[in-house]
Amino acid sequence: MAFPTNRILSGIQPTGNLHLGNYLGAMKNWVAMQDGYECMFCIVDLHAITAWPDHVDVAQSSREVAAGMIASGIDPDSSALFIQSHVPAHAQLAWLFNCVTRLGWLSRMTQFKDKVGKNREKASSGLMVYPNLMAADILVYKATHVPVGEDQKQHLELARDIAQKFNVDTGKDVFPLPEPVIRGPGTRVMSLRDGLRKMSKSETSDMTRINLTDSADAIADKIKRAKTDPEILPGHVEDLAGRPEATNLINIYAALADMRVEHVVSEFAGQGFGEFKPALAEVAVSVLGPIAERMAVLLDDPAELDRVLASGAEKANGLAESVLAEAYDAVGFLARG
Ligand code: AMP
Ligand code: TRP
Repeated sequence: MAFPTNRILSGIQPTGNLHLGNYLGAMKNWVAMQDGYECMFCIVDLHAITAWPDHVDVAQSSREVAAGMIASGIDPDSSALFIQSHVPAHAQLAWLFNCVTRLGWLSRMTQFKDKVGKNREKASSGLMVYPNLMAADILVYKATHVPVGEDQKQHLELARDIAQKFNVDTGKDVFPLPEPVIRGPGTRVMSLRDGLRKMSKSETSDMTRINLTDSADAIADKIKRAKTDPEILPGHVEDLAGRPEATNLINIYAALADMRVEHVVSEFAGQGFGEFKPALAEVAVSVLGPIAERMAVLLDDPAELDRVLASGAEKANGLAESVLAEAYDAVGFLARG
């Protein structure tokens, strides 16, 4: 079977609040790529339970993520928007990859190491094989491009290694090697309270992140109280070196306003955060305010969201089942009579 040339797959976990990092690192790029690619966007509920038993209300969070995607500009009529557990072939292909991937590869994954810390023995085995499921999400559609934030780079390199090993070991060219698409100044949005930590859903303090559902007042307040340093803003990007909080806020501004970082720096050169922060709050509210409003309207009609997700799953199942059959055949399983 020939490979598609421009098929996108990307995913997001239903693990609580969608935040500015998800929007700038992932969803904004998905929306921008919608016209040139055949798009599959997956709400990865199977991934969300790897934190067992500490996962949130996955069903409710799945609807919130679906609403957040549509509110951000994903068009479910042209892109397939669906829930991972509604397409069984993801988990089935992941099993094959559990057998392909070497344990050594998995033990080098920095996200796994960060998440388990010193408690490796107590981590779920699902957390360890998480990257195999992620590779299956992508390869079960023979996706060619995967737009994600910077933190997923290593997982995508692993997905390429898995595809290659599967093809070499079976002697069949079943999977393309998917390309990561990591672009723009928002690929690594940092915490508002610590410019060296990633903005994340799991951080306990809500002041560290801007949620897509935050009110205008909450956004302005979080930006006002964001950690900074006492210096004024420099005239050149290089002079931001060693100033992680300033760098983060400038990058956020550039990503939200669709400006080059150099232009933002020259616009605010010589000004203090007292001037910069209100300008940042204004652009953040102007972009995120309408998204929050649309999300609220969509969440008011869960039956319609479920209908959209069912139609996405139907399209996804059609593609995924045929690739799974091809992979089973390459492995050498006896076909069902
Ligand atoms: P997750 O919330 O972990 O499921 O992430 C979903 C998508 O958002 C992935 O493409 C991540 O790379 C991206 N993402 C998550 N956090 C950030 C962040 N702080 N900055 C940029 N992208 C992010
Ligand atoms: N691991 C990704 C994250 O935490 C989510 C994800 C799961 C994903 N499957 C994927 C991203 C497939 C891109 C493609 O952000």
